[in-house]
Amino acid sequence: MAAMTHDHQPPGSRHAHHDPGLAELLDLDAEVLGSYLDEVTAWAEQHAPQGPRTIVDVGAGTGTGSLALGRRFPAAEIVAVDRSASMLARVRAAAAEHGTAERLRVVLADLDAAWPSIGTVDVAWAASSLHEVADPDRVLRDLHAALNPGGLLVVVEMDELPRFLPDDVGRGRPGLERRCHEALARAGWNAHPDWRTHLERAGFEVTAQRSFTVAAASAPPSAARYAHAYLSRIRAALDGRLATDDLETLDAVLAPDSPDGLLHRGDLTVRGSRTAWAARRR
Ligand SMILES: C[S@@+](CC[C@H](N)C(=O)[O-])C[C@H]1O[C@@H](n2cnc3c(N)ncnc32)[C@H](O)[C@@H]1O
Repeated sequence: MAAMTHDHQPPGSRHAHHDPGLAELLDLDAEVLGSYLDEVTAWAEQHAPQGPRTIVDVGAGTGTGSLALGRRFPAAEIVAVDRSASMLARVRAAAAEHGTAERLRVVLADLDAAWPSIGTVDVAWAASSLHEVADPDRVLRDLHAALNPGGLLVVVEMDELPRFLPDDVGRGRPGLERRCHEALARAGWNAHPDWRTHLERAGFEVTAQRSFTVAAASAPPSAARYAHAYLSRIRAALDGRLATDDLETLDAVLAPDSPDGLLHRGDLTVRGSRTAWAARRR
């Protein structure tokens, strides 16, 4: 998810560390699409060394990955690394709420500056964060060095921006959301490479790659809030990038008091897909 100005960031865009809206969005994302997290950690477990003792969550955000890893590996210490103190405060609060605070270590560090001294780890997890750092190849080398031999790195990225709207929203031209996403892709949102060659270059053996699809056909109530938060965020980046009639339709869909607006419609779905790479330190 490319360098943009501070006001126009997608979740996962660079320089998002003073961005309270992002925290809310990450939590809503986990609430609505979070079922995939337990699937990914189950898959990760198949590739992880037995009984990992230390797991690092790189660019932990609000800690949805840290919590899922804590559930999957109940004996492991989880080290949540992020450059945002407010994100880490949320990770700490979430761990306290879930009774795992004593197994959590939070580390405030800007990975663009240097890899933090956290000791060696058995598993590393980087979800929607690797594409954000300035020099991912250097961070991958640092991760490789931080892992114990046989250790596992899991990289997760969104394949596409989450989709909520029907093709025809009942006003304007069909295909609004697709055109929004095309405009954002042209602006570099959510851009990330296939990490396989980068992982191999850093010395990893890529043992598996899998795509995880999430689809909630009858969207839960929190989906409307997620859709509203998400589409409001992308709306801010679309001025000058989307045709005027589409912008008007999007504004109408976002208007809180509009009868066919997002918060009142029953035809929302939530669809998303992520790719995960499992890479082993030999
Ligand atoms: C899109 S969020 C993903 C959060 C979480 N991993 C998830 O999947 O919900 C990216 C996170 O990476 C962090 N981040 C970005 N660049 C970073 C850097 N250079 N050093 C440390 N953290 C960074 C951001 O602060 C943000 O919390």
